[in-house]
Formats: sequence, structure tokens, C-alpha cells
Amino acid sequence: MTTSATTSATGVAVELSEITREYAGSVRALDGFTLRMEPGEFIALLGPSGCGKTTALRCLAGLEDPDSGRIVVGGRDLTDVSTNKRDMGMVFQAYSLFPHMTARQNVEFGLELRKQDKGTRARRAADMLDLVGLSAQADRFAHQMSGGQQQRVALARALAIEPQVLLLDEPLSALDAKVRVQLRDEIRRIQLEVGTTTLFVTHDQEEALAVADRVGVMNAGRLEQLAAPDTLYSAPVSEFVADFVGVTNRIATTVDAGVAHVWGGRVPLLDGSTEKGPAILLVRPEGVLIDAAEGANATVVSSSFLGSHGNVVTTTDEGDRVVARVSNTEVTSFAPGDRVRLRPRGDRALAVGA
Ligand SMILES: Nc1ncnc2c1ncn2[C@@H]1O[C@H](COP(=O)(O)OP(=O)(O)OP(=O)(O)O)[C@@H](O)[C@H]1O
Ligand SMILES: [Mg+2]
Repeated sequence: MTTSATTSATGVAVELSEITREYAGSVRALDGFTLRMEPGEFIALLGPSGCGKTTALRCLAGLEDPDSGRIVVGGRDLTDVSTNKRDMGMVFQAYSLFPHMTARQNVEFGLELRKQDKGTRARRAADMLDLVGLSAQADRFAHQMSGGQQQRVALARALAIEPQVLLLDEPLSALDAKVRVQLRDEIRRIQLEVGTTTLFVTHDQEEALAVADRVGVMNAGRLEQLAAPDTLYSAPVSEFVADFVGVTNRIATTVDAGVAHVWGGRVPLLDGSTEKGPAILLVRPEGVLIDAAEGANATVVSSSFLGSHGNVVTTTDEGDRVVARVSNTEVTSFAPGDRVRLRPRGDRALAVGA
């Protein structure tokens, strides 16, 4: 694998501050959006449809003018700099290769615009196609390649210009599940190799958690939380984040002095939780222990074998629907109607107002 000619640029810091963008007659697509990326960092932006992910990316690329706010890249204020002077590589959801050009010509395209000579272009294109594993397909046209291959070429094309920042807007969403997983890992490998600061938009939470240094969850034009994948999952700052990332049980509880009381056990609370009184505790399925011991407090509704693990759906005696994660060998021992005992594993959890 080539490394020498990939890129000499180590990543730059990216700062979007208080960006607002309102479309005529529409809601605010961005409403005080603030994000700081470390040099070389890979950040995934996650969020429901319409929350402003694409708009954030387009503002950073200069394809969209913010109504207010500032964009600073590598210490330079780009807020009023035009797109073609911003030095950003982009890959979009839809296959966007020029159909009348081969893979190689597509990759060379940006270099031609930048007036690079023929020899440099050829070398750089060859290196980039090697980087994405497509040297053998260099002379193919888009219609002669699979969707995954086309997106690899698009990635090679974006990286060929040695961009300061790489912007990826759901580049994998048109691909089937298996290719998608392969290519996301590939993108991460390449990004680590070239070191380009990267913003990757997706609405697939697993994808975001799997590849990013940090994941930002957006809600209605703002960043609701930005954290490392494990932190985002285990310490969500809000009900919205807890719900959006992972499966969440909602259990009626009473909170007192930073602790929730559930099924005779105590659950320590995350920052931002309700401080006192009745509340709803948000608990992951793996945070619920289930067994058939004395002191049953729930009834099994159904159980499902999911390959690597199993889920047991129960109804508690208080009427909450609670899913417990069990091992794949255990799951068959739970049948509908069984009386079971649920206990909290004791992980910190978020309690929100009931
Ligand atoms: N050109 C436009 N004109 C008017 N409204 C727009 C335009 N582009 C986006 N919007 C609106 O701005 C909001 C944010 O859109 P955006 O495309 O950024 O969302 P998104 O998070 O990328 O969604 P998705 O996951 O569906 O791609 C939405 O309400 C959308 O309808
Ligand atoms: Mg979008």
C-alpha cells in the first residue's frame, strides 16, 4: 500500500461557531450549531432526518452561506471564502462520478482544475486508486463498476486534491449491508492513513459508533452531545440522545439523593438526571439482569435469539415493558408466561422527569 504520496498534510482543526441557517419559509435548518474538530479527527454526525446534518456539511464546504456564525479551518477564517478556495474533499450519498470519464480520469479531474501537470496527475491518481484498492479498475467507467467501487473512486477523487478537510454525506447509504460495513472500515483505515480531519454524516448509529473518534448527535439544528462512542452510549446527556443511540428501557422509578430505586436495587444516576421524586429511568437492555430466582417481579412476553445474543421482553409487575439482554445460550430457557426476577446491573443511568 502506498503511503508516500497519499498526503503530506496532517489534519487541521475545524471550528464551526454558532452557525445559523434558515431557508426561506422553512424552519431553521441550523440553529446555533457549534462544533470543534481536533486536527486529524474523524467525527460522525448522527441525527434524525431533517435535523440539519447536510446543511452543516454544506456550510463547512461553502456550498451554503450561513446567516450568522463563523467557520475557522486551520486557524484561517473561511466564513466569507468561496467554495473553490476552501480545499475540501466531498463524497455524497448518490453516486456522483462523471459518467463519460474513467475511474482514473475522475480522480485526475480535481488535479486538472488545479493546473497540475500531466505526470503529477497520473502519479497521484495511481496512488489514490491504489489507496482505495482499485488499481485494476482504473480504466473502467462508472457503469462498469459496482456501487461500492464507485464510492471508492469518489473517495479517491476527494482525497486526490489533498483536501484540508474531508466531508462525507451518507456515502454508504445506497450500498447493501455487507458492502457498507466493509467500506466504512475501509474509509476509517484510509482516513487514519492520510490523517485528514473528517466529518462523516450518517443516520446509522452503528456506523457512527464503529468508525468515529467522536460522535455528534444533532437535534433540530443543534449539536445535542459530542462524545466518544462509548461515552455517548453509556452516558447520554439527554433522553433524545439515549433514545437515538441504542435501545432504551423506560422504567418508572423514584429518585432520591442521586440514586434511583428500582426492583429493590439502587442505580447511580448520570449528570443531568432528575434530582428528586418520581422519574423515568432510562436503562439499556444489557443493564437489566434477569433470572428465575425467588422474588419474581416480571413476566416474560417473548424471547428472541439474535445470533450473537438474545433479547427477553418482559412486563414488570408495575406495568413497564422491559427488554433484557441475555447470552445466546441462555435465551431459549425463557418462555412466554415465565415468571422472572429483574435486577439492575448497577450501571449509571439517566433519570428524566416522569
Ligand atoms: N434548499 C432548501 N430549501 C428549503 N429548505 C431546506 C433546503 N435544504 C434543507 N432544507 C430544510 O432544512 C432542514 C435540514 O435539512 P438537512 O438536509 O440539513 O437535513 P439532514 O439532517 O441532512 O436530513 P437527512 O437525514 O434527511 O439527509 C430540513 O427541515 C429541510 O427540509
Ligand atoms: Mg442529509
